[in-house]
Amino acid sequence: MPPESAHFIGLFLLKILNSVGLLKIFFPIRKTNFTPRKFFGLEFRNTLGVAAGLDKNGDFVDVLDSLGFGFIEIGTTTPKPQKGNPKPRVFRYTSSKAVINRLGFNNKGVDYLASKIKNKKFNAIIGVNIGANKTSTREKRIEDYKICFEKIYQYADYVTVNISSPNTPELRNLHDPNELEKIFKSINSIKIKNASKIPVFLKISPDEDDGIIEKILKIYKDLQICGLIVSNTSIDKNILENCQHEGGISGKPLFNKSSELLRKIKQIDDEVFLIGVGGVFSKDDYQNKISDGASLIQVYTGFIYEGPSIVKKILSS
Ligand SMILES: Cc1cc2nc3c(=O)[nH]c(=O)nc-3n(C[C@H](O)[C@H](O)[C@H](O)COP(=O)(O)O)c2cc1C
Repeated sequence: MPPESAHFIGLFLLKILNSVGLLKIFFPIRKTNFTPRKFFGLEFRNTLGVAAGLDKNGDFVDVLDSLGFGFIEIGTTTPKPQKGNPKPRVFRYTSSKAVINRLGFNNKGVDYLASKIKNKKFNAIIGVNIGANKTSTREKRIEDYKICFEKIYQYADYVTVNISSPNTPELRNLHDPNELEKIFKSINSIKIKNASKIPVFLKISPDEDDGIIEKILKIYKDLQICGLIVSNTSIDKNILENCQHEGGISGKPLFNKSSELLRKIKQIDDEVFLIGVGGVFSKDDYQNKISDGASLIQVYTGFIYEGPSIVKKILSS
């Protein structure tokens, strides 16, 4: 079965199991294994989360919540719905435990996503990852983040600004400090106007050079960004043996590259709040990311390969 269909059908089956109360029997969670932590006033029941992209529209939040994740980042969502790139656009490299995707922010739009979390209660912390439509260019791209933020901040526990997907042409140009400043200034002005204290994170690419990282860290401080999510997928084909497709590489081959970036950031500024993501498949991987400076950890490709039992494997003592 093509990976994209397998992904959807897998989540759909879990949703059915959840709706008839069987999910907790197949994948029981022991609350005794949870170590709650509080960050930015938010109570995380544990520090293992779902990375953005797994549930782009908020259709599976209930399932992921029942599986025991401490936080669930839904999206990337954009102001208008869009189809994304032509299929096939997700490729499995099973022997390397990797995935290449070039989905291109296929999603049902921010209004749909908002309807999925509005007035609902979950045990997990809910983050919303926001992006720009492919058809938006230049200033309109900046405006897209503002539109998404305005429509979502009342319903989310935190928001992530995603400038690091490699599958929307030129999106990564938004790592440019001038562009970033515009995005965060407009988001901060909405927060001030509405007296909102919602934490806003920035998700970065693992492929940027040191100069850009240093500039981002300056903006992080100047514009009170709450944390960095490190990292998105990589377009560096050197990390994946026999790489045959264009797109973003995730999974085991990304582990070292994304962890190196965590360490680099901590070396430059020890106080940055970090969320580590990239190639986490086991408890050891999870603990290594924590040793490298991350306070929260996310998984995506590990969930695809290991299945829902990854939560228990990582969190059990
Ligand atoms: C199929 C697929 C779709 C993704 N979609 C998104 C997305 O919409 N937004 C985003 O910020 N990251 C997206 N990502 C990146 C992941 O959130 C994560 O940063 C990356 O895959 C590294 O983690 P992993 O090795 O655990 O998969 C996607 C990854 C995959 C594999």
